[in-house]
Amino acid sequence: MSTKFQVNGRTVVATAEADTPLLWVIRDELGMTGTKFGCGAALCGACTVHINGKPARSCQTMVSAVAGQKISTIEGLSKDNSHPLQVAWIKHDVPQCGYCQSGQLMSAAALLSSNKNPSDADIDTAMSGNICRCGTYPRIKAAIKDAAIMMRSA
Ligand code: FES
Ligand code: FES
Repeated sequence: MSTKFQVNGRTVVATAEADTPLLWVIRDELGMTGTKFGCGAALCGACTVHINGKPARSCQTMVSAVAGQKISTIEGLSKDNSHPLQVAWIKHDVPQCGYCQSGQLMSAAALLSSNKNPSDADIDTAMSGNICRCGTYPRIKAAIKDAAIMMRSA
């Protein structure tokens, strides 16, 4: 079985079985390991990617479901860590162990693509599905606000 779709603007053809989670196709078949496995049950957000610009849990998305769709992963955020969220993440020294962080960034990127000036409540809602065992939530929120300012003034 083959499934054709786009990842970070590049057309790919995956050969995994139709019911293979997109997460494993991205990591094992396409070799992009920025997207992480946490719970495998759509509960932690570590595996968050974008499907047509919307955040999605790649551990619970069958590869056959993304045929013809546009996927973005953490590797597609920028080539040189220049996305405002990446700049703000570094400035605020957000990560601790780092394991949850690519999922956090992808959820934050989806938020800022649709909301240029998110309130605390907007951020809480958008990020509620992303768990951080290290408790980096205050720094995540500060970095999202800072990135939003950068994006509005760009
Ligand atoms: S690994 Fe997908 S939500 Fe936890
Ligand atoms: S930085 Fe360790 S789980 Fe979030």
